[in-house]
Amino acid sequence: MSSPDHNLLPDNLNSFWMPFTDHRQFKAKPRFIVRAEGMYYEDSEGHHVLDGAAGLWCVNAGHKRESINQAIANQLAQLDFAHNFNAGHPLVFRYAERLVQHFPDPLNHVFFTNSGSESVDTALKIALAYHKRNNLGSKQRLIGREKAYHGMGFGGLSVSGLVKNRSAFGNLLPAGHLRHTLDIERNAFSHGLPTHGVELANDLERLVALYGAETIAAVIVEPISGAGGVVMPPAGYLQRLREICDTYNILLIFDEVVTAFGRLGAMSAAERFGVTPDIITTAKGITNATVPMGGVFVSDAIYEAFMATEETGPELAHGYTYSGHPLACAAGMATLSIYEDEGLLSRARELQEHWISSALRLQGHSKVIDVRAFALIGAVELATDPEAPMRRGTALSAACYKRGLWARNIGDALVLSPPLIISPEQITEIFDLIADALNDVD
Ligand SMILES: Cc1ncc(COP(=O)(O)O)c(C=O)c1O
Repeated sequence: MSSPDHNLLPDNLNSFWMPFTDHRQFKAKPRFIVRAEGMYYEDSEGHHVLDGAAGLWCVNAGHKRESINQAIANQLAQLDFAHNFNAGHPLVFRYAERLVQHFPDPLNHVFFTNSGSESVDTALKIALAYHKRNNLGSKQRLIGREKAYHGMGFGGLSVSGLVKNRSAFGNLLPAGHLRHTLDIERNAFSHGLPTHGVELANDLERLVALYGAETIAAVIVEPISGAGGVVMPPAGYLQRLREICDTYNILLIFDEVVTAFGRLGAMSAAERFGVTPDIITTAKGITNATVPMGGVFVSDAIYEAFMATEETGPELAHGYTYSGHPLACAAGMATLSIYEDEGLLSRARELQEHWISSALRLQGHSKVIDVRAFALIGAVELATDPEAPMRRGTALSAACYKRGLWARNIGDALVLSPPLIISPEQITEIFDLIADALNDVD
């Protein structure tokens, strides 16, 4: 990588209202990222850092993949844009057909969006409309889970379980929340999925008893939650949720915006865990983050319920100008080829043992109260300073950056999800580096 052009750095930091940012902190010490390649970012000071987060859980095939860039450029030269409202460009159909083959039967149809938030809101709307179509219009309540993150649309926020994200926005949609599955007391330093907590799925029956099954449309869960601090499903938990949903005619939605496209060593968590929901939401890794895109995968039963109508007009009054944008489809096609050709969809499974055992080497450090690791996702949880929650997590993240690893903290947990092209040596390096960085955290 060549040295950055410092002349391009901005003087004005006020015009851009940054997403999810503490602007005072940023302005006091701005960090500008200027280049990326493979596993590494380069900042404006010429510092190279290993990308411990795959961007934001999205650059699964690593940065600057030439074949994706080329596919986007080729598409741009041929067709920059055509919408898909009662018309369609051929690529979107070919891409959809190829994509659905990677998701479990009967999820054979995909609705394209532009982000994870839009995918979630689309899935929730499909669930509501599906029941209404089946003359079950009283099924309006959406069930989420504590600690869940489902993006920042009104639907996703309503089922979110992160209080700080919700509290500024007043009343949201009618929802209910399952208990979260983080149980550090019983499951700390689990090797892979935690063994305690399958019974937490029965919490859905509490909500059924409280609200009535006739009012509940859908349950949405992240199979492994990312932005909630990497919380694993206890073994058997997702299977149990599926059973309860079947009993009460509640649709099960897996929000796989983070977990799909190889993060768990399979195309989807549904495949990895052997549990098939009715709807899967995706985004992020779908285009390796080059062009914004999301996809909502729905079952034959849901799709056919909409298509079986005599009424003229759209079967679902929903869509976005850029649903199935040609550039996103081209990027998605090329991304999928990389995943297939380089074996990246199964790579996290192959690296899993090394990932988990390397992470667990941090057990025993005085500040570390839990390490959670599975496939190529993980978290290192520090004891919270009762006087200053988040202080230690922030300090650890800063200490890692100084040493050459960019990994975010969520509260006092350092969360990790490197690109799937990571080498075993780089995995070892990450955890050696964190062990050293812990020396800076008091
Ligand atoms: C599980 C999950 N759902 C939805 C979203 C929202 O995605 P986006 O930021 O692309 O809207 C995220 C983002 O991190 C996520 O982790």
